[in-house]
Parts: sequence; C-alpha cells; structure tokens
Amino acid sequence: MNNPIGIFDSGVGGLTVFDAIRRSLPSQDIIYFGDTARVPYGSKSKNTIIQYSLQNASFLIQQNIKLLIVACNTSSAYALDELKKDFDIPIIGVIESGAKKAIKVTKNNKIGIIGTEGTIKSGAYEKVIKKLNENCSTFSKPTPLLVPFVEEDWIKHSVTKQVLEEYLKDLINYDIDTLILGCTHYPVLKDVIKEIIGSKIILIDSAESLASEVLENYPFKNSKNMKGKYQFFVSDNPEKFKILGKSILNLNLEDVNMVYFTEGWVKKI
Ligand code: DGL
Repeated sequence: MNNPIGIFDSGVGGLTVFDAIRRSLPSQDIIYFGDTARVPYGSKSKNTIIQYSLQNASFLIQQNIKLLIVACNTSSAYALDELKKDFDIPIIGVIESGAKKAIKVTKNNKIGIIGTEGTIKSGAYEKVIKKLNENCSTFSKPTPLLVPFVEEDWIKHSVTKQVLEEYLKDLINYDIDTLILGCTHYPVLKDVIKEIIGSKIILIDSAESLASEVLENYPFKNSKNMKGKYQFFVSDNPEKFKILGKSILNLNLEDVNMVYFTEGWVKKI
C-alpha cells in the first residue's frame, strides 16, 4: 500500500514524532497536520480536545492515509478511544508505547512522568503502566511552561534550564530511575534535561518508542530506491512552522500548506 502515513499534533512539537518515523521508515510518504491556530492543547478541556482531534483526523483521512499517528500526548490521552470508534483505519497514539518502554527499562520500578496539564490530569500514562505492571510506582508532574519555551525557540536559554530544575527536583527526590517525556515538545529539551537529571535516570522519548512500535507492528516496507515524500499542513502561520521546523529538526520543510476551517479543515486555494 503506497498511501501515506498521517500524523497530527497540536502544532510543531509533533515534528519530533515525524522525525522518528521518517528515520525508521525512510521510504514512506508522510502527511503531517499541525493545529498551529489552536495550540496549546495541554490546557484545554477533554471535550475540546476530543472535538479538535476528530476534526484533525478527519482532514488526514480525507488525504487517504493508511495509518493515523496521534503524535500529541494530550490528544492521545483524551481522544484516542473516540478516534478509534469513529474512524475505520489503524490509529495509534504515543502513550502506550512510551509506557511500555518505561516498564521495560526501569530497574527500581519508580517511573517519573512529565507532560501537559491535560495529559497529567488524565492519568493516562499511570493507567497503562499500572495495567502492565502493578509493582511500578509513578510520580507525575505537569510542566506547562515548557511548551511555550520550545515554541519561542528558547531551547538553550538559561531561563528554560532554571524552570526545568524547579520542575524536576521533586521527581529526582522520589528516586525515579526512568523519566517519560510525555509531551511532543520535550524531546527537543533532552540535552538540558539530561544535564539536570544526570546519567542515572533514563529518559523515555515517546517519539522514538512510537516509531519502534510502528516498525514492529505494521508491514511497511523500506526500499533503498525510494525516498518518502513529505507534506505539511498547518492551521496558522506556515512561516513560523518552517522556522521552528528548521530549528527542531535542522530540516528545510518545503511543502508547508495552510488550511482553514469551515465544516472541516479545507486546503487554502
Ligand atoms: N502536543 C502537545 C502534547 O504532546 C503539547 C503542546 C500543547 O499543549 O498543545 O501534549
């Protein structure tokens, strides 16, 4: 099947998932939708997230995708079941693969989770972790200031480091040996986070865990002679998306298109 893989996120952060997928499946075409007009999702209610996620999925499914990846942790936490009920193609979110990976690597069964207010409030990571291994203890912390720092391209800024130190100190005191980066934006801050937590705590990047899961579970072939084509759609500010894309992935994002919303997302003519 040569149809593309569809990925959506609330904005630019899901490019970390796009990057992990394109690296593990370089011959697959990918269509990415970033809801840059309505980001952030992390502070919005469950009902709103479900509505937004259904609209985003519907747009990608109209582009004939063969698999939908919900890159946004907040959407995965609140809307994955609704999406699976409403649409008839394979759909995967980031939470289960991140949780599974954490259980696999933890040695002392103490797992920390950072994410948006929505993701942490939903308890989605905890539920999956407890279901798979009831001996694991979880320690979670909403870290809402991190998304704006990444969106501002303040990745190496001293203020970002200071805020991270404040956020992470409780988790470090709980003696966690594994930390789940439960938000699409956080892998971008991996280096700073590592500086703070040191090498004893293992970081789980949900983007990478998800890419491994896709590779294991779907029969998509990689062919040396084919390079996947990438298309991007955003609901606002394609120029800013390109700039952040360059900063996050060091990649020139060429085919970035604007969509506007009427009864669904429509390509701008
Ligand atoms: N994409 C969101 C997530 O992974 C983070 C950004 C937002 O709050 O929209 O939860």
